[in-house]
Amino acid sequence: MEVLEDQKKTRGSFSNGLGFVLAAAGSAVGLGNLWRFPYLAAKDGGGLFLVVYIVLALTFGFALMTAEVALGRYTQKSPVVAFEQAVNNKKWGFIGWGATIVPAIILPYYAVIGGWVCKYAFLFLTGKRTAAADGGKLYFYDQIGLHLTETEDVMTNIDVMPMLWFLLFITATFIIVYFGVENGIEKASKILMPMLLAIILFITGFSLFMKDEESGRTAMDGLKIYLIPSFEGVTFTGFLSIVLDAMSQLFYSLSLAMGIMITYGSYMKKESSMPQSINQIEIFDTGIAFVAGLIMVPTVYCFLGEEGLSSAGTSLMFVAMPKVFGAMGSFGTFVGSLFFILVIFAALTSCISIMEAVTSTIMDRFNLLRHKAVTITYIMAIVLGVIVCLGYNKFFFSVSFANVAGGQILDVFDWVTNSLLMPIVAILTCIYVGYVWGTKVALSEVMLNGEKFPRAKLFEIMTKYVSPVLLAIILLNSFGVFG
Ligand code: PHE
Repeated sequence: MEVLEDQKKTRGSFSNGLGFVLAAAGSAVGLGNLWRFPYLAAKDGGGLFLVVYIVLALTFGFALMTAEVALGRYTQKSPVVAFEQAVNNKKWGFIGWGATIVPAIILPYYAVIGGWVCKYAFLFLTGKRTAAADGGKLYFYDQIGLHLTETEDVMTNIDVMPMLWFLLFITATFIIVYFGVENGIEKASKILMPMLLAIILFITGFSLFMKDEESGRTAMDGLKIYLIPSFEGVTFTGFLSIVLDAMSQLFYSLSLAMGIMITYGSYMKKESSMPQSINQIEIFDTGIAFVAGLIMVPTVYCFLGEEGLSSAGTSLMFVAMPKVFGAMGSFGTFVGSLFFILVIFAALTSCISIMEAVTSTIMDRFNLLRHKAVTITYIMAIVLGVIVCLGYNKFFFSVSFANVAGGQILDVFDWVTNSLLMPIVAILTCIYVGYVWGTKVALSEVMLNGEKFPRAKLFEIMTKYVSPVLLAIILLNSFGVFG
């Protein structure tokens, strides 16, 4: 008993269900919600995408999330040891290694992007709204250390500024993770998540009433594009591609297949209700993604028209949104600053979870104390992060492969994790939970305190049969099989 208590002390745990939910929602709500969801919704028939996404969240996303959290809490261990211990067989640890390599690769580049966001918050706070708005893509390139000559060649001079912003972001993450589960992660989530919610609702409050005097377009027109299902030109294959977009967005958005939900599940108290917590995380994550769309789709449409809606990812966040703030006049400095602070919070709580997933594996596997394990993770991330930054000047190259065009080091990291490893790890997790560890044991962990779990049968069917097939389709799609 004493040994167990000791172990608990060094491992840490969330103080209650709310602590777990806020931390897990903090992980789930990230750049994916803010810069990918709104874009996909606008592209994929507005309300049609929303409906498909919600249906998938309640079935596919829910089952994968339940599987991971249950495995984590059952073993109270980080991924590698969890996969071994649940079935008492070391040979299954390889799935856990897969689930650890993913966050280890994501951590450096996610923090590099976190650094860009800090830089933009700083730019807006110091009144550089007009420069950011008018400078467009080239201004953004300059901020990330990609400088072009007059003939549009890439300069190979090293730019240290993006590295310093990256260092700031990764160090903030490091400090929080260093303080542990309850005093670091839980505390940070309890402060950052309510603030994030308040800011996003506040911005939504007035973004919907914007009007562009020049073109006469209003945000309300954009809102219609976002909410009303459009079946225009939707063929059978078109519909499949919407489903595919929704599926891959969903499992990225819920932070699945990267050991995170297993790790956070391992810190969840046995007394907390798992079905209730999982519902809350899903509602939080989907809700924030939906509200982010309420801000971005209408304002981008209002100020930039249809064309603006085609910008995705980094160009939506760092090129289109600054233009929107530029068009708002001086009020845009305030809204822009607030917006980028919101993005910092979202990215930070996600980055914390990525660092924690790697740290906890190093702690459990190599029997190290937290401060040593987290320092190792931090140093590894700095080395890789600097390489990612150098990808825009010193190590610049432009690759095109599978469904990536003109990528740099960051895009390569991103493709390897999101398009390749994550679907593979998720497929293996389903097979493991479905057939090796078994859904019966998983379900008994979910309903440990006699909680009602109406979707038990659904969980079983999804995990054993449907999800592996859907994930295999996602994987094939990464190689451009479906065009
Ligand atoms: N779920 C996060 C998002 O939607 C992404 C994420 C990626 C979180 C990697 C943690 C780790 O942005």
